[in-house]
Amino acid sequence: MRFDNKILFVTGGASGIGRATAARVVAEGGRAAIVDLDLATAQAVAADLPGCIGLAANVADEAQVQAAVEATVAQLGGIDVVLACAGHADFGLISEWDSARFNRMLEVHVGGTFLTAKYTNPVMQSRGGGSLVTIASTAALVGQKLNVPYGAAKAAITGFTRQFALEAAPAVRVNCVAPGRTQTGMTEPLMLARGGSLEKGAEMFGANVPLQRVAKAEELAAVVCFLLSEDASFMTGATVVVDGGETIQSPPPLLEPGTGAGLARSVQEQ
Ligand SMILES: NC(=O)c1ccc[n+]([C@@H]2O[C@H](COP(=O)([O-])OP(=O)(O)OC[C@H]3O[C@@H](n4cnc5c(N)ncnc54)[C@H](O)[C@@H]3O)[C@@H](O)[C@H]2O)c1
Repeated sequence: MRFDNKILFVTGGASGIGRATAARVVAEGGRAAIVDLDLATAQAVAADLPGCIGLAANVADEAQVQAAVEATVAQLGGIDVVLACAGHADFGLISEWDSARFNRMLEVHVGGTFLTAKYTNPVMQSRGGGSLVTIASTAALVGQKLNVPYGAAKAAITGFTRQFALEAAPAVRVNCVAPGRTQTGMTEPLMLARGGSLEKGAEMFGANVPLQRVAKAEELAAVVCFLLSEDASFMTGATVVVDGGETIQSPPPLLEPGTGAGLARSVQEQ
């Protein structure tokens, strides 16, 4: 019961990682404001979770984020832990992108993280402490084809996290989670398109991951909740990669098993 009497403010809470985090916080004694572009789904998620509320906000819109924070304080009584999770995927060659599309990527991911931090931090500071988790991606850390704007936005979130952790310390801790391939509302349409079925698509997406599968949203929520909780009481400014080992790999090896030993022998024999 790590979140006994704690109040979570989660953006993008109507689906995927945000929703799974809200469910875990509630299972461990907390309540949550589920904030999302999609009000109907946010309210439906909140209705399934005791003590929770659903609120509409576009995280790229300052007045809407401020209003959602104020509504949370008015209706739930405060904010103790925050997950800035709202986001969307959008792929393509940058030659096909215009500035408006690129700026939207930055406004939702980096701008949304900035606004969520700006308005929730004073509430947590006034209550004596708290924890904010931001969401990057493996695209912040390694090159991925057709993913330049998303990768740029996510890399900015890791930088924002490090810088803001200094500003929010010592009362509020700020950390980032960089997920790898995770089955959620964002990736299921891609999996379906690639695999013909969700099961086949998920299998294809997981094939090159060392753990040989994609993640479930709950597996990301588990790490987010660790960082939100006092279990991570000495962590701030960190980016935690949760990717089944995807980013530790180099390209496929040139040597097959056993070949290396043979080469070493033949060198010794010369
Ligand atoms: N699923 C993955 O493989 C993966 C990998 C790396 C990073 N991420 C990141 O994880 C976060 C959560 O994504 P998910 O996979 O759970 O996707 P999801 O689509 O299941 O959930 C995202 C939620 O954010 C909401 N949203 C989108 N734009 C918004 C906006 N401007 N304002 C408010 N709400 C908005 C959506 O309505 C949706 O409910 C995103 O930041 C995403 O970039 C996901």
